[in-house]
Amino acid sequence: MSPLEYALAGILLMLPALVPNSAAVLFGGGRPIDFGKSWRGKRLLGDGKTWRGLFGGVLTGFAVGMLAVAWTMMADSQDTWGYGDLPRAAVIVAALSIGSMVGDSCGSFLKRRLGVGRGSKAPVLDQYNFVIGAIILVLLVQPSWFMTHYIEGDGVWGLIAFLIAVPVMHRTANIIGYKIGKKNVPW
Ligand code: CTP
Ligand code: MG
Repeated sequence: MSPLEYALAGILLMLPALVPNSAAVLFGGGRPIDFGKSWRGKRLLGDGKTWRGLFGGVLTGFAVGMLAVAWTMMADSQDTWGYGDLPRAAVIVAALSIGSMVGDSCGSFLKRRLGVGRGSKAPVLDQYNFVIGAIILVLLVQPSWFMTHYIEGDGVWGLIAFLIAVPVMHRTANIIGYKIGKKNVPW
């Protein structure tokens, strides 16, 4: 693969981690994950993290990833959108989508501890909380996949492209969420 192909793959392979955040905005609402509980006078996670958003996000990310897998397997039964064989692909897709939403909640936990209100800006943390969660979880379950596509050799072009694409896609999704009335602020 050429550096450009690594860059493109770097973004596409991370779709199961990118999708959950936007899906959570669409599915969100109802009971908060922290059930309204506070710790030392501040909410644990806040009203922006709901069970519906969590499960809606994870399931949508997983579904999108597995659709990409199924789509490539129709053309070539050995190829699964670059995740290895089917069991391995399912593990990676699940790790990316679950890690993404867990990272998102950890980000909110940190924001609350720092006294940043729900929906208030926390630059960098807001954009990369889910990236960190997805990378940590996939490193725990399939380190070799991440190393090949994002660290070793030309794979680093995948990492660079992905890290640049994240804030752009995050911003775009939030503006759309704001326009359709699902978010109170366009960030
Ligand atoms: N959302 C949700 N459940 C989640 C994640 C997101 O319901 N687990 C929905 C909420 O409606 C949330 C919106 O998606 O307001 C946008 O998500 P995000 O920007 O992550 O939350 P914020 O409201 O900004 O809250 P925080 O300050 O905690 O990040
Ligand atoms: Mg936010």
